[in-house]
Amino acid sequence: MAIERTLSIIKPDATEGNHIGDILGMVEKAGLKIIAMKMMHLSQAQAEAFYAVHAERPFFGELTEFMRRSPVVVSVLEGENAVATYREVMGATNPANADEGTIRKAFAKDVGENSVHGSDSQENAAIEIAFFFPASQLPCAPLFHGARRARRPPGVAAQLGGRAGPAHADGPGGPRPPHRLAAGPAASP
Ligand code: CMP
Repeated sequence: MAIERTLSIIKPDATEGNHIGDILGMVEKAGLKIIAMKMMHLSQAQAEAFYAVHAERPFFGELTEFMRRSPVVVSVLEGENAVATYREVMGATNPANADEGTIRKAFAKDVGENSVHGSDSQENAAIEIAFFFPASQLPCAPLFHGARRARRPPGVAAQLGGRAGPAHADGPGGPRPPHRLAAGPAASP
């Protein structure tokens, strides 16, 4: 499966409610890696620019005012199918429709104050990541994914002519090349 990156924002209602740790815990339990993160107070201009695609919507003023009400936690998540995986962890935009076990079901108040944002496509993820993080603040190759892999039984390792060790261990020829990202690392803004 493809290793992707996606942008997460923990919104003001969730930072006000002291839910940052709980939300990040749910993200990590879903197998996503947090590869960059910062807490910041958005300006009106930043909130308007980030949500520019919604500028014509009737809720735009309410949305941008809410997003600068308190600090937010912005992070880049990486993992297999990160965009879809994180959207599953978040739950439906309107918490009234969110499944049990999702972030929005647990913490969101309503469709306006819905605790988290996540990119909706790989293309938008690249744009949104670049909005907050210059490439210099991101690892250029994916971090190691997958929990510790099973060690080969010694017999199998002997047959293969190698030492027993993690299936991903570097071989005699040197370290494995890094995985390739499905969507390349974000560009500098
Ligand atoms: P988010 O995933 O951050 O993307 C756009 C945001 O607009 C969305 O979450 C909601 O917070 C907000 N939004 C969407 N629909 C409404 C609505 N009807 N009223 C207020 N805010 C909304």
